[in-house]
Amino acid sequence: MAFTVAVDGPAAAGKGTVARAVAEHFGLAHLDTGALYRAVGLKVLEGADPVDAARSLTPADLERSDLRTPEAADAASKVATIPEVRAALRDFQRAFARRAGGAVLDGRDIGTVICPDAEVKLFIIASDEVRAERRWKELRERGINVTLADVLAELRERDRRDTTRTDSPLRPAEDAIIIDTTHLTIDEAIARAVAEVEKRLPPEMRKQGKAQ
Ligand code: CDP
Ligand code: CDP
Repeated sequence: MAFTVAVDGPAAAGKGTVARAVAEHFGLAHLDTGALYRAVGLKVLEGADPVDAARSLTPADLERSDLRTPEAADAASKVATIPEVRAALRDFQRAFARRAGGAVLDGRDIGTVICPDAEVKLFIIASDEVRAERRWKELRERGINVTLADVLAELRERDRRDTTRTDSPLRPAEDAIIIDTTHLTIDEAIARAVAEVEKRLPPEMRKQGKAQ
């Protein structure tokens, strides 16, 4: 049966970490929807038309090693303001969300636009400074040399673009559960998310879920 968990929130709040762990815990499929916009953004940096790029995305585009660079993030948030780009990516995301066996999708508009009927909606937040520090550490560990100040400025600019665009702006759905991870460890954030999903799990899926 279909069971959808929507995970939204601003940049580097911990959406991906929580979404992957929830998917693993309950045996659900996981889709990082930010990767779709990042892949389109990279193609545009290489000269492609944004709408053509979104319409012709392939699985290989989603496996590029440069997907998680600050350049890809910046380009992603620019193409993400174009309604035709968002429309081109919509059906794939919705089909993924309703797949048998259930799915977790993380992004910006999953609970509001892609899956307004999702069984569970989580909205992950953390202070700007904490988010910037986490992303800065992550980038440095991957050998990408950036200053903390640049990362903070980039996150704020992207959040501004994501919250003020007209098509599918970033905002919590009315029925979203807010999880503030500012003072939470990764394990604590995951435990909170798992507990929220557990409460809403249909009985027939409860049997499938791994024991806590
Ligand atoms: O997907 P999103 O951009 O929202 O965030 P992420 O990639 O899941 O997390 C950003 C970074 O913060 C990663 O390096 C996580 O390991 C780290 N993180 C953390 O330190 N504490 C948390 N409670 C959640 C994530
Ligand atoms: O991991 P992080 O939160 O830094 O970024 P991401 O989730 O990979 O998303 C990159 C950009 O894609 C965001 O800043 C948004 O502009 C856009 N995006 C979106 O508009 N809608 C989504 N469902 C997912 C991402």
